Amino acid sequence: MIQMFDVYKVYPNKHSALTAINLHINKGDFTFLTGQSGAGKTTMINLIFCAERATKGQIVVKGINLGKIKKSRIPYLRRDIGVVFQDFKLLNSRTVFENVVFALEVTGARRAEIKRKAWQVLKLVGLQNRLDATPLELSGGEQQRIAIARAIINDPTILLADEPTGNLDSEITHDIMELFKNINNRGTTVVIATHNNTLAQQYATRHLTLERGRIINPEEQ
Ligand SMILES: Nc1ncnc2c1ncn2[C@@H]1O[C@H](COP(=O)(O)OP(=O)(O)OP(=O)(O)O)[C@@H](O)[C@H]1O
Ligand SMILES: [Mg+2]
Repeated sequence: MIQMFDVYKVYPNKHSALTAINLHINKGDFTFLTGQSGAGKTTMINLIFCAERATKGQIVVKGINLGKIKKSRIPYLRRDIGVVFQDFKLLNSRTVFENVVFALEVTGARRAEIKRKAWQVLKLVGLQNRLDATPLELSGGEQQRIAIARAIINDPTILLADEPTGNLDSEITHDIMELFKNINNRGTTVVIATHNNTLAQQYATRHLTLERGRIINPEEQ
């Protein structure tokens, strides 16, 4: 589902964020990517959904070589990849409902279908009573849960979550992990990036650790 072959990422300022990354994430895996701040977790996530390009090496996602993908195909690839961003990236002038359905509207889904799915995912994350609020009227944890609802509304094949429980207390963190597990049980390949090693040990079926841009436990792959 996600493969990397000797991947390097060097940012324009010459900072080397990833070095010699080889990985093979299979369909249905529930993978944790851990590492300290600056280890390269967000960079890995950004490479997988084509927000950044590898400097060297090959990345294959759903059988598509990202080094060769046409720009016009990238939106189609992204429709099938849900992303929970570390900084949420919510539209503050839009309501909870509008934020969550945004990705569905561009696919041309029908209004009734959009409403049904929005209700379903917002119920899953426990925010079905806040449809008309705007993100700035919500707590950090609530905003994080909207970001999760938005990422899963399209039933993506791959779900990438960057520090998805960073602002949540341990009870809600557990609920969110159970939610990710449920999504995973429906066949979605889930990749969760976090600095929280304990969380990974508790929930991961696969656990990759990054240290200064290198995977230090490749034998687990
Ligand atoms: N756009 C960029 N330009 C230059 N350097 C960058 C850029 N983005 C990230 N970096 C550098 O690359 C390294 C890896 O960053 P990355 O954001 O992937 O780390 P991270 O593991 O997600 O950290 P955190 O836990 O703090 O989110 C860091 O040293 C960072 O400073
Ligand atoms: Mg990060």
